[in-house]
Amino acid sequence: MAKGLFITFEGVDGCGKSTQMRFLAEHLKENGYDIVCTREPGGSPIAEKVREILLDIGNGEMTDNTEALLYAAARAQHVAEVIRPAIEAGRIVLCDRFIDSSLAYQGVGRDLGVEQVFKINEFAIDGVMPDYTFFLDFPPHLAFERMSKKRVHDRLETQEEAFYKKLYDGFVMLSNRWPQRILRIDASGDKFQTKEIVRGRMNGLLERHGLLHE
Ligand code: TYD
Repeated sequence: MAKGLFITFEGVDGCGKSTQMRFLAEHLKENGYDIVCTREPGGSPIAEKVREILLDIGNGEMTDNTEALLYAAARAQHVAEVIRPAIEAGRIVLCDRFIDSSLAYQGVGRDLGVEQVFKINEFAIDGVMPDYTFFLDFPPHLAFERMSKKRVHDRLETQEEAFYKKLYDGFVMLSNRWPQRILRIDASGDKFQTKEIVRGRMNGLLERHGLLHE
């Protein structure tokens, strides 16, 4: 069976990953690649409903365990409906956040423990791990400043600066744990510099998989 590539984008809120994913998607499309762009939490109708519960600022009483399980539940549905079928059809899937967000936000940020959160997610993803992950390495204090300027915040964004640093350290720890899979991208320059770095790394990956279009 043809197998595509599964690539995720990760980092703290405000690191610029959604913009970079859009840049890369446009570039790949222009070069004739068959790609699917999706995001978490959400990405399929049922998972989007779970997203609304997760990000609802009115759900302040949600426990950390419930939060971790809901992210995993949304992910299970997203994998089954969107990600796995696309990979099996030989497409390139780009996903804005995936399992590493749970490991960093719930495992490290909420102190549930990376191993514990990994266990529930193993059940949710049912073997569908990203082939590669672009971790956008952007200084957490600057990410916090950026997010503070946003006028409307969701439940997860109403956090303090120290939480950003904790998440950032979590992502760094994950990139050290999976150095082959998680590519640490210097995102401290302007967005066009970062775009070139991401594009260069992506070309390297396509070449490695014999997918580079001439
Ligand atoms: P979203 O508005 O999509 O944020 P972003 O544009 O930064 O990706 O909201 C997603 C929020 O959910 C974000 O604060 C990170 C958080 N999150 C988790 O805590 N765990 C997870 O597993 C995922 C996928 C996201």
